[in-house]
Amino acid sequence: MKVFTAISELKEFLKSGRISAVREGKELQIGLVPTMGYLHEGHASLLRRARTENDLVVLSIFVNPIQFGPNEDLDRYPRDAERDLALAEHEGVDAVFMPSVEEMYPQPTKTKVAVAELTSKLCGATRPGHFDGVTTVVSKLFNIVAPNRAYFGQKDAQQVAVVAQMVKDLNFDIEIVPCPIVRENDGLALSSRNVYLSVGEHESALILSRSLKQLEADVYSGQATTVMEARQQLMQKIGSEPLAEIDYVEIAAFPGLTALQETNSLSSELKAHGAILVAVAVKFGTTRLIDNVLLTGKGEAIHV
Ligand code: PAF
Repeated sequence: MKVFTAISELKEFLKSGRISAVREGKELQIGLVPTMGYLHEGHASLLRRARTENDLVVLSIFVNPIQFGPNEDLDRYPRDAERDLALAEHEGVDAVFMPSVEEMYPQPTKTKVAVAELTSKLCGATRPGHFDGVTTVVSKLFNIVAPNRAYFGQKDAQQVAVVAQMVKDLNFDIEIVPCPIVRENDGLALSSRNVYLSVGEHESALILSRSLKQLEADVYSGQATTVMEARQQLMQKIGSEPLAEIDYVEIAAFPGLTALQETNSLSSELKAHGAILVAVAVKFGTTRLIDNVLLTGKGEAIHV
């Protein structure tokens, strides 16, 4: 496994890989897994999927300062390069790209990539500028690596929708592959930020997966709950946890994130739209967690 900190060296490595493949009459298939490090089983699942679908797997580890707001956790974002590299090696990664902030942003950027509409809702409403930071750094990574496929966790469902929109709008020739949420045995969605939770906060946070799972079961069992009722029920269940401070509970069509008819049943809206995202963001102590369930025809793959 090669580790690169310089953009030019990574590009050179990928270029020689492409040239060797062409000499053998093949086209090198490259899979990119962009991360901010402090890797967990969720990231490992992305790497495994990328490994099965590509000749070469590139993992990027970069805590991107421009996607953090002034009062967010940039300074305390967890980091453990040694453990990340061991996990990457174990998952058969070919190249790890871990640039410094100076390498990625040698001077303050005058250009940003911003997706409209999709980014003003859900997390975008309380994290202004966050998605501009994400799409800007993801475009840079796409230009540096030029992968055939890029892998993203569906836990960040809005990020998947925003990146997929950017890829369409800007004609990136890259397939966005959303991968299922990976959970702890107790149901908590894996996140690098889970490390901040106290034992009590972790226990409280289980309300997120429990209430989303219940809603999913209700919809699939044909209950005629309306969109409005479903949202109220979720708010009530999550709000009954004393440590939970709700940022949002949203139900929207996916991937367009457009509003639903509030008085229609969720199942009829599901038929009308094909996929519905039920997403929550809730603070436990100082830690803001997100979780979601994507309602589709049961067992169907997610297309963005
Ligand atoms: O999901 C993340 O870890 C980040 O938002 C990403 C996609 C690596 C961009 O910094």
